Amino acid sequence: MMARHIRMGMALAAAVLAGGVAPAAAQGAAASLAAQGCLGCHGPNGEGQDAIPGIAGRPAAGTEAVLKAFRANERPGTIMGRIARGYTDAEIAAVAAFFATQPR
Ligand code: HEC
Repeated sequence: MMARHIRMGMALAAAVLAGGVAPAAAQGAAASLAAQGCLGCHGPNGEGQDAIPGIAGRPAAGTEAVLKAFRANERPGTIMGRIARGYTDAEIAAVAAFFATQPR
């Protein structure tokens, strides 16, 4: 009888915890949505393909700085400058954070 109460309590705590992480999960979904535009070239997880460099598993701050440099035309590239100009600061931060979590 006692044990059953304890188990129920734990299930409740787990449900509360799951509710607590939902906003972070939603944020992750938004970031991965913004990153969809990168995957066709950089590979399904940003691991790179053919001549296109991998961008997965790098510290977010570095990717963010590189994307802003492309956007500002301060870093040479064939295509990334034009692509980066389509992204806001917030979107750049979100995709950089997303690729930092992807396996190389
Ligand atoms: C049309 C293909 C294409 C798309 C789409 C694309 N990239 Fe790129 N990316 C490249 C190429 C090619 C380079 C090499 C630099 C250049 O030539 O512009 C590159 C370079 C980069 C680099 C620098 C890597 C390094 O080591 O120098 C980063 C970071 C990057 N891309 C991130 C992104 C992100 C984030 C997105 C989505 C917002 C994205 N790219 C979308 C083709 C693409």
